[in-house]
Amino acid sequence: MRIILLGAPGAGKGTQCKRIAAQYGLQHLSSGDILRAERAACTELGTKAQSYMDSGELVPDEVMVEIMTDAIKKAPIAGFILDGFPRTINQAVELDRALTENQLEIDTVLNLNIDDHLVATRITGRRSCPRCGAVYNIENLKPKVDGICDKDGTELIQRSDDKPEVVANRLKTYHQQTEPMVDYYRNNSMVYDIDSNKNADKVSAIIFEKLDALVKTQSYKI
Ligand code: AP5
Ligand code: MG
Repeated sequence: MRIILLGAPGAGKGTQCKRIAAQYGLQHLSSGDILRAERAACTELGTKAQSYMDSGELVPDEVMVEIMTDAIKKAPIAGFILDGFPRTINQAVELDRALTENQLEIDTVLNLNIDDHLVATRITGRRSCPRCGAVYNIENLKPKVDGICDKDGTELIQRSDDKPEVVANRLKTYHQQTEPMVDYYRNNSMVYDIDSNKNADKVSAIIFEKLDALVKTQSYKI
């Protein structure tokens, strides 16, 4: 199964992608996580991406297309879920080109809809594990011990681009450059809209119901 998951900053893309990947045996391909790993490793790519990420702007299309199409080619046969890519119409067109070249197709596009006023609260409350990538929230998805990852005991951190002014620009960038891209997929009748204002478990239940139905109509081995 091959899925694209779309949504504004804080819509819950990372949270839901991790659950979907675990449930259906898919590889979670997060463009943001890949860029953060490059930054942590001080690679040339990580250094190039840094200023864009820290100001809430998009990293140039050609850079993202190369990284993500490469990751897709290496993904296991069971499939993948894309988180944070594509993000512009140009990236979507290039993704289609790469999929066609590799005789692959996207099965569905899930679009998480969240009201703008909820974004800042969710993001300022987010804490992540720098080792395993687990995502928590100090208000509604708390770790068992304050500030410590349940899975591996690592101290949780806040992302460097989660400052209020950067979050505001990420949201603006989303509305200007990514939201118009949703129509690109809508025109192919591939988009399933999900109300992501609900709590994370309710959102997962809606997604699993949709994907279970999709699995029944196809011959996926999961
Ligand atoms: P990226 O890392 O993709 O960031 P983002 O799109 O801003 O989204 P977030 O990761 O902040 O939010 P999320 O939707 O994953 O929410 P999460 O599940 O964590 O990109 C970062 C940067 O990299 C970009 O700004 C850009 O510079 C660059 N970049 C990346 N991809 C690119 C591309 N394709 N092209 C160009 N540049 C690119 O949840 C947030 C919080 O809310 C958590 O605390 C969570 O616990 C909580 N939460 C989740 N769901 C719920 C719920 N339903 N109810 C209540 N709380 C919830
Ligand atoms: Mg994320």
